[in-house]
Amino acid sequence: MRTDNRADDELRNIKLEVGILNNATGSAYIEWGKNKILVGVYGPEEAPPAIEIQDKAILKVEYRMTTFSSLEEHGKYTPNRRAIEISKVLREALSNLVLLDKYPGGIIEINILVLQAEGGTRVASFVASVAALIDAGIALRDIGYGISAGKVNGRIVLDLSKEEDNLGQGDIPICMSRTGEILLLQLDGKISREEFEKALNMIRDKKDVFVNLIREAFYKKYRGPIDNDLVDII
Ligand code: CDP
Repeated sequence: MRTDNRADDELRNIKLEVGILNNATGSAYIEWGKNKILVGVYGPEEAPPAIEIQDKAILKVEYRMTTFSSLEEHGKYTPNRRAIEISKVLREALSNLVLLDKYPGGIIEINILVLQAEGGTRVASFVASVAALIDAGIALRDIGYGISAGKVNGRIVLDLSKEEDNLGQGDIPICMSRTGEILLLQLDGKISREEFEKALNMIRDKKDVFVNLIREAFYKKYRGPIDNDLVDII
């Protein structure tokens, strides 16, 4: 039995909204279990003169936790090492989805603000960032999604809550594209190769949950197909 009685592959409730900030190019808000995360995308803008012009856009990603997001210490005034790490891994993951070549000399900023945290914020931030990028009309290769798998009481389970993360013997956040490419993979703890394969398959099986979640968020906001090239993607 899991601490909140979920089945091994059962996700917490997820709600996603898009287009909620007036002055961002694109935005999304996700509630995933007790996590609450806001993402704003700004750009593509012309990169400032101080930055050397590149033949593709620069992607900047900043993940921040608010001071009230949890009871733990999380670098109240400047990002701590964890926030810097999460910003970096999310930037690398999202760089493999965004068609950066389409925007030479440009800069795209993704600001992620964790309002409330309860385990799994990096994968929830990834999903909300994908939705916010689509909302901004930025060209993507594919939709991406992410889930944290873990090992609790010797079993592989999906979507660890904070409590399970503390109890667990392993935490494996994974982000993937819809076509199955792994975009982010981290591992904290020790698991066997078989357990890893099992976690990966369980995450793959949840793909449609996220495709539908994103599709429904856009339908709800715009009541019909959205007006950009990404209509094919979602
Ligand atoms: O959030 P995620 O699972 O991606 O990252 P983590 O480093 O494994 O942290 C697990 C959870 O611990 C977070 O979601 C927060 O609930 C909590 N945490 C926190 O509140 N403050 C920190 N400095 C680190 C973790």
